[in-house]
Amino acid sequence: MTDKAPSDPSRHEDVDPTGLAAGRPAEGLMDVGASEPIERPGLHHWRESTITDPDLNDRGGVFFAAIEMTRMPMILTDPNRDDNPIVFANKAFLDLTGYEEEEILGRNCRFLQGAQTDRNAVSELRDAVQSKSAIALELLNYRRDGTPFWNAVFIGPVYDTDGHLRYFFASQLDVTRRRNTEQNYRQAQKMESIGQLTAGLAHDFNNLLQVVNGNLELVAATQDPERVKRYVAAAQSAAERGAKLTRQLLAFARKTRLEPRPVDLTQLVSEFSELMESAVNRQVEIHLSLRRGLAPVVVDADQLEMALLNVVNNARDAMPDGGLVTVSTLPLRLDDDAADRDLPPGDYIVLQVEDQGQGMSADVLERAAEPFFTTKGVGKGTGLGLAMASGFVRQSGGRLEIDSEAGRGTTIRMMFPVLAPDRFTATDRPEHTPVNAIVDDGSAPHVLVVEDNEEVLAIAREILESAGYVVSTAFSGDEALRFFDASHSDKRVDLLFTDLVMPGGMNGLVLADAITERDPSVSVLMTTGYNEELVINGTRARGTDVLSKPYRRSELLDRVSQALNRRGEGGGRRRRSEFGAVQA
Ligand SMILES: Cc1cc2nc3c(=O)[nH]c(=O)nc-3n(C[C@H](O)[C@H](O)[C@H](O)COP(=O)(O)O)c2cc1C
Ligand SMILES: Nc1ncnc2c1ncn2[C@@H]1O[C@H](COP(=O)(O)OP(=O)(O)OP(=O)(O)O)[C@@H](O)[C@H]1O
Ligand SMILES: [Mg+2]
Repeated sequence: MTDKAPSDPSRHEDVDPTGLAAGRPAEGLMDVGASEPIERPGLHHWRESTITDPDLNDRGGVFFAAIEMTRMPMILTDPNRDDNPIVFANKAFLDLTGYEEEEILGRNCRFLQGAQTDRNAVSELRDAVQSKSAIALELLNYRRDGTPFWNAVFIGPVYDTDGHLRYFFASQLDVTRRRNTEQNYRQAQKMESIGQLTAGLAHDFNNLLQVVNGNLELVAATQDPERVKRYVAAAQSAAERGAKLTRQLLAFARKTRLEPRPVDLTQLVSEFSELMESAVNRQVEIHLSLRRGLAPVVVDADQLEMALLNVVNNARDAMPDGGLVTVSTLPLRLDDDAADRDLPPGDYIVLQVEDQGQGMSADVLERAAEPFFTTKGVGKGTGLGLAMASGFVRQSGGRLEIDSEAGRGTTIRMMFPVLAPDRFTATDRPEHTPVNAIVDDGSAPHVLVVEDNEEVLAIAREILESAGYVVSTAFSGDEALRFFDASHSDKRVDLLFTDLVMPGGMNGLVLADAITERDPSVSVLMTTGYNEELVINGTRARGTDVLSKPYRRSELLDRVSQALNRRGEGGGRRRRSEFGAVQA
């Protein structure tokens, strides 16, 4: 944008043969991208000039009249005077800014700036003025009455024939209306995306509900046990798909309950390669280019596999006639370039997937990671693959980047921060214990289930009772605590299984504290539908075990028996890991 001024006026190309004034054409160099105020490349106007008569008082000619008649604000400043003050301002400048001439002559132009003016833009101006370069940019300025406006400023140096800098010339233009229109347009696009998201969600869930309800109705209408089995299986599989859909959406919203642990990306990818192979068809070849000895990153391995699979599936879809997909791992150090990537400086590991497919046009690229954005036609894509992957990577403290051009293939880079070794102590993942039926010899463990949703409570009770547990229930923390105080002495509660977020004053964490304060040997298992602040901040600090909803029967029973087995180890609760979730 800026260009060094030549102090040698003979380099000026637009030389008037009579030797009056000369200039160097802008040649499109002063354009501020798409926001150029003259709406087309400025080729001929001068970006710097040389004058033979530096006198400001010669105001008799038509050119001076033109300057005073134009609606384009213009000023001159004198860089040879202290602080480069305004020495001339035309009438349009007074109209634009609302000042009187005597209020501005002798002052530096920075009086137009204010609280919301972008400081980076100001330092660009400062650098240009200091280096005597021409510059064009837009920044927020304020009128005399305090109203803000977007000012498209152009500044260029004016030399005398000896090559001395005599003035700076500037023109200004109020481009507020155009900027507002652009902002409204972006806002409208955002609303459209939200509409699309809601509609997509409603559409997919309606289909799933249709299947679930339809099959349940069929169950109610038949006596044939074989049919019942079939209908139930169909309903279950639809509900499973619904659960998968919400998992992807939560990942997009960066609200997944992550179980991060140190992972060697190279090892993870090589172990996962068979599954990737089976996901692509035979014409697509997967090539691995994996760096050994990489520092571990702390991520949720299952989620990472899901993200990788989504990206590899996209590569497959982009190459219907086959081709090569290269999956690589490599280290990356970010220093000065970190801010551009919206990441803190430091060491990262990159998981990269490159394909030779059809690539994306600029519009597709811009929206590819939006949820429900798909170009794959009805029934083929849900548009959640990249949304999930980018949400997950972001939630893991990293960044997903897409490089793609129509016809040129696509490269997806998932960058994860390397954590300093002392930031993480080894995680003990819950060891898998098989579901044990409880023998009811009067010693069956007593589980207190606390859940504000009636149906969810009924299901938990049903599952636990059918496995032989003795179950008591409460709808709120207060109710649970009253029950505990009244009955724990004769009928001991062995495990508190509570929802994390409940209406009323007492959430699951507060309840668990109150109960373990009364009896530290009571085990605690929490459950939640998503990663509320509470989960991130509360359970991480305590290392509480949390079961995500929706949970399957076997998951609930596994986790309940694990929690009960842990009784006595560290007072009923123990630290599962230092990290319940990485940064959102
Ligand atoms: C000819 C000329 C015109 C300028 N016009 C404006 C302007 O319209 N609005 C503005 O915010 N700054 C304008 N500036 C920039 C400020 O005068 C000043 O250079 C800038 O604030 C950076 O310097 P500072 O950090 O000392 O304030 C202009 C500068 C020159 C030389
Ligand atoms: N590797 C790629 N090459 C070309 N286009 C891609 C690639 N990856 C994604 N896209 C484009 O981005 C869109 C969104 O991708 P995303 O994975 O989010 O959804 P989808 O693949 O359409 O559906 P889903 O993954 O949910 O089945 C795709 O429809 C496609 O247009
Ligand atoms: Mg996809």
